[in-house]
Amino acid sequence: MTTPATKKFRPATNLVHGGQLRSQFGETSEALYLTQGFVYPTMETAEARFKGEDKGFIYSRFSNPTVAMFESRMAMIEGAEAARATASGMAAVTASLLGQLKAGDHVLAPKAMFGSCIYVIEELLPRFGVASTLVDGADLDAWSAAMRPNTKVAFLESPTNPQLGIIDIAGVAGIVHKGGARLIVDNVFATPLLQKPFELGADCVVYSTTKHVDGQGRCLGGCILGSEDFIQTYIHNFLRQTGPAMSPFNAWVMLKGLETLPVRLEQQQRNAVRIADFLAEDKHVERVLYPTRGDHPQHALAMRQMSGGGNVVAFDLKGGKQAAFRFGNALSIVKISNNLGDSKSLLTHPATTTHQRIGPDARAASGIGDGMLRLSCGLEDVEDLIEDIAAGFAAMGA
Ligand SMILES: Cc1ncc(COP(=O)(O)O)c(C=O)c1O
Repeated sequence: MTTPATKKFRPATNLVHGGQLRSQFGETSEALYLTQGFVYPTMETAEARFKGEDKGFIYSRFSNPTVAMFESRMAMIEGAEAARATASGMAAVTASLLGQLKAGDHVLAPKAMFGSCIYVIEELLPRFGVASTLVDGADLDAWSAAMRPNTKVAFLESPTNPQLGIIDIAGVAGIVHKGGARLIVDNVFATPLLQKPFELGADCVVYSTTKHVDGQGRCLGGCILGSEDFIQTYIHNFLRQTGPAMSPFNAWVMLKGLETLPVRLEQQQRNAVRIADFLAEDKHVERVLYPTRGDHPQHALAMRQMSGGGNVVAFDLKGGKQAAFRFGNALSIVKISNNLGDSKSLLTHPATTTHQRIGPDARAASGIGDGMLRLSCGLEDVEDLIEDIAAGFAAMGA
């Protein structure tokens, strides 16, 4: 096997070639090493590998060549020293927290988060003696006031799912570091191309690679990125011993997904910008939320920390759940689904799906109304999408 190129190229080049380990057969595409284990030429080699003196592969729960290629490519594109792939985005979120925390610690996070992240922080961690406080993510004073001497980790996503709220990552990082804690940023909505949390002060970045990285709705996956020291100290052994490993097959799909990420995202974002403007003009729409629109409540911050608004648009329909359901049921190209980042346009009603379990109070606190819809814009012709959305409005009546 040849070692990956170390020269730094521009992002689109790294997304095609980064981290490739080419075998003795000289394959063009990344090889899929669908194997659980590896054989050793001698007993001595096996011993040396387990001692860490020989760098070869041992077992695919620990590492695998296809997964290693994916990790290297993710690290390159993020500008991180190290990356570890996981079975899903939630495996990445959970491991990034549990790997750093112990009973008696405290975690800080915003009220507006993906529903499963709220479950992990508000329900799971307290069972193991880790306290948590949820704050208004947009209010830096609230972050400062909630810091405690035992706060070890702060966690946030920005833009938030589904309301596309923007959190000042550099501002939160400053507060968290002053208190001696570390910041994890879930960068799913922005993707590695539109926002660089490490440059804004994050200590760890996590992804659901299920979303834009796969990009075609096939495989689950996740990734945890950080400095070599961070990954070795908090993540490496936790993953190795607890086992939420990414399948080599999924890593292979994700590698192919990364190759086309910039072209997909550019087109999807173009569609999203156009659709957001179209939605804002319709009388059925109460409010459109898209980070780079001038009417987004945190437009200036979004322009400062993101290089694009991404492919997701959120909007509130007048008439609550009934209006949202009538609209969604009338669409034919846009599919009703809770995923995002897919080449197919997908519509979600967060209050009854992704954010159903958190309950009405938590939804109200994080700005998720019954009329809110989240649209992940796909790669279809935008004129067809607009006609589909117009048909949805027509079905709602006057
Ligand atoms: C912001 C955010 N974080 C984490 C996840 C979890 O990812 P996965 O479904 O791959 O576990 C999702 C989506 O499901 C998400 O939208």
